[in-house]
This record gives sequence, structure tokens and C-alpha cells, in this order.
Amino acid sequence: MKHLMTPLDFSVEELEKLFLLANDIERHPDKYAHDCDGKILATCFYEPSTRTRLSFESAMLRLGGQVLGFSDAASSSASKGESVSDTIRVISCFAHICAMRHHKEGAPMVAATKSTIPVINAGDGGHQHPTQTLTDLLTIRSMKGRLNNFTVGLCGDLKFGRTVHSLIHALIRYSGIRFIFISPEELRVPDYIIEELREKQIPFEEVIRLEDVMGSLDLLYMTRVQRERFFNEEDYVRLKDFYILDKKKMNLAKSDMLVLHPLPRVNEISVEIDNDPRAVYFKQVQYGVYVRMALILTLLGIR
Ligand code: CP
Repeated sequence: MKHLMTPLDFSVEELEKLFLLANDIERHPDKYAHDCDGKILATCFYEPSTRTRLSFESAMLRLGGQVLGFSDAASSSASKGESVSDTIRVISCFAHICAMRHHKEGAPMVAATKSTIPVINAGDGGHQHPTQTLTDLLTIRSMKGRLNNFTVGLCGDLKFGRTVHSLIHALIRYSGIRFIFISPEELRVPDYIIEELREKQIPFEEVIRLEDVMGSLDLLYMTRVQRERFFNEEDYVRLKDFYILDKKKMNLAKSDMLVLHPLPRVNEISVEIDNDPRAVYFKQVQYGVYVRMALILTLLGIR
């Protein structure tokens, strides 16, 4: 039985198969409409979500399966003190596969050790968000035709941003990747990732001003400054509008640069660029459904 805790749980070859399956699902959804007849997905979300939970549910429903779960720890027995280990043992009696989001780093991993069904990490604290990374990779691969040879700018909260951490880990397995980390001093990429990049001799630079590097980027991954990860409101207020991607900055970018964002956005991308063909963050959401359909089929051993 396979779980998904980090994007590295799949080899590059396994990811390639997953993306081919996702692209086939996109082209021929009817072929897959009954693959999960009789199967149940549980979504156990201890933290808020719109995209991840609902795209998992949409994915399972499109495959002919059914869904159950909770979207708030307060409405589950976690509010009475139940551990994730006990909860997953119970959920294993109800469902065939589980997607879990938790505010504590490592909680889905603890659940996986006690589970008799595949567990998918749907985001754990500031640590990892592997299915967002699968979504990001599928979007890039589908729109650019490759996953290698890119200068990738990651901008915003690079310290607490689990989508950023997962994406960096996934991309360093492809050749010709160069990173430009764009963040205020307080929100820089964690040291453990910087050390890993140095060890693996992956080229990267850290800058503060987005304007200075716009022209050299092939991909720009914007992120939100996350209020929920700050210990005090004052720091959040000071940093929340540090970056705002607008038309003026987009004019500095290559004509084929892609702008990605895991969403939700707050102010970091002006709505005035939503119709720019380079802005693909809403297409990303659609790819998220196809890749989660492919993931469910793969982890259940159906395809
Ligand atoms: N991208 C993402 O994780 O969005 P949600 O928090 O809405 O699931």
C-alpha cells in the first residue's frame, strides 16, 4: 500500500505516468467515469480549505465514487481529544482512501503509520503540500511541454509556504532548473532547504525586489503571506502587501512567462492581470482535479 506524504514519494518515472494519466483523463473523462464505483474517499480536514478538499471530492465523484468526511476539526472528535492515530483507524473502517490536512507538521505521516488505507497528505502545517505540487507540475508540463530547463522565481512567504517547499523539492529532480527566491528577509526559504540546494549544487539566488528579476523568469510562482502562520499580527500587517504583481511588473516579464499561484490570493496579484494569457492560476485549479483523479486511481491500484 502506498501513501503520499511528499512529492518525493513518487519517482520521476512514476510522476510521468501520473501526468500522462491525468492528461488522458482531461481528454477522455467518460472513460474513467465508473472506475471508482463502490469506492469511498474520506476527506479529514483539520484546517480550512476550498480547493484541495473540494477538488478531491470532485475528483472522486467524477470517478463514480462517493465521499465523506469533515471540514473542520471542531466538528470532529478531535475536539474531544481524539488522536489522529485513532481517527485514521476509525476512518479505515469507513473509506478506501483518505486525504488529510492538518495544522501540525507530520500529522498525516503519523496517521499513515496506523492506517490500513492509503493516506494522502493534503497539507501539513508549514511543511509539505504534495498534491498542490502535483497540480503545479502538471500545469507547467501541460502548458510548456517539459519540466526541465527553467528559471523559476518563487515570491512571497517562502518561510512558511508549504507549497513552495514541496515545489522546490520536486523541481530539483529535473535538469537545468535555476531558482530565484524573492522574499523579504523575514520570510526567506528555510536553512535546511538552502543547505540541500548547496549540497546538490542547484543554482539559486535570493533577492528582495521582484522588479529586479522579472525579465529573467520563465515561471513565477506567487504566494500569499499567510496570516495564520504568524505569531503576531504586527509582523503580518507589516509584510502582507510587500509584493503586489500588477500590469507594470508584468510588462517587465518575458512574453511566455507563466504566473502560477496555489491560491487563495489576497492582494499579492492584482485582479487587473487575471486576463493576461500568462496568468494561469485558475487553469491550475482545473489541472488539480485531473491530477487528483489520477492519484486516486494510482493509489487504489485501479490504473
Ligand atoms: N491551494 C490550496 O491548498 O488551497 P486551499 O487551502 O483552498 O485548499
